[in-house]
Amino acid sequence: MTTTMHVRMPVLDETGFVVLAPLDPPIDEQEWRSLEFMDWKSAGDTEFAPIASALGEMECSGFWDHGKSDKDGVWTSNAARCPSMKRWIEDTGANFGRVRVIKLAPQNYDEAMRHLHVDDNNRLNPESEGWVVRVFLQLTDDPDSFAILRPDRDDPSTEVRVPLPRGAMYVVDTERIWHVVSHNGTEPRYALIACLESGPQLEAWIARHRAPATP
Ligand SMILES: [Fe+2]
Repeated sequence: MTTTMHVRMPVLDETGFVVLAPLDPPIDEQEWRSLEFMDWKSAGDTEFAPIASALGEMECSGFWDHGKSDKDGVWTSNAARCPSMKRWIEDTGANFGRVRVIKLAPQNYDEAMRHLHVDDNNRLNPESEGWVVRVFLQLTDDPDSFAILRPDRDDPSTEVRVPLPRGAMYVVDTERIWHVVSHNGTEPRYALIACLESGPQLEAWIARHRAPATP
């Protein structure tokens, strides 16, 4: 695990991820259907719709291209088309960087595992500030699909699978945890992904939305 002096959240200390209660009501389908997508390959056959970018432009590249850490994202022209997604992000109270909707073509487990990766979330992020993590909100209903999370890339016994029915929400330190999605549907999977700064605001939001413990 990367050890730096960044502000981190105790809730992620042990496992590096937390599953939240599903969003209810979920995001209306019209919101992601109306977005403008760009061809951008990442962890599969993907397209991305930028909702917040480094300068508000319709681009998918890292904020470091503009000399910024992954924070202080600027809404793009897509944001006006998805008001409840925008509100969902703002409701976290956290400083956000990249905010995007991913469109992922079906890929089975073996195909997905070829794309297992960690993210680069904290380039140029000063150590006096909060560690950037990612929040995920599943838009389409894909109950047979799942996020694969592996603290140890080479140890299958560490693998956790998060199912992806509509509205599924989870937070992952994706720079620490290896991850990818096995999408076992026939239609594309859509999900909202945002980079958010760790800190008291995000921690309070997580506490408000945590899934009830299973007995
Ligand atoms: Fe990733």
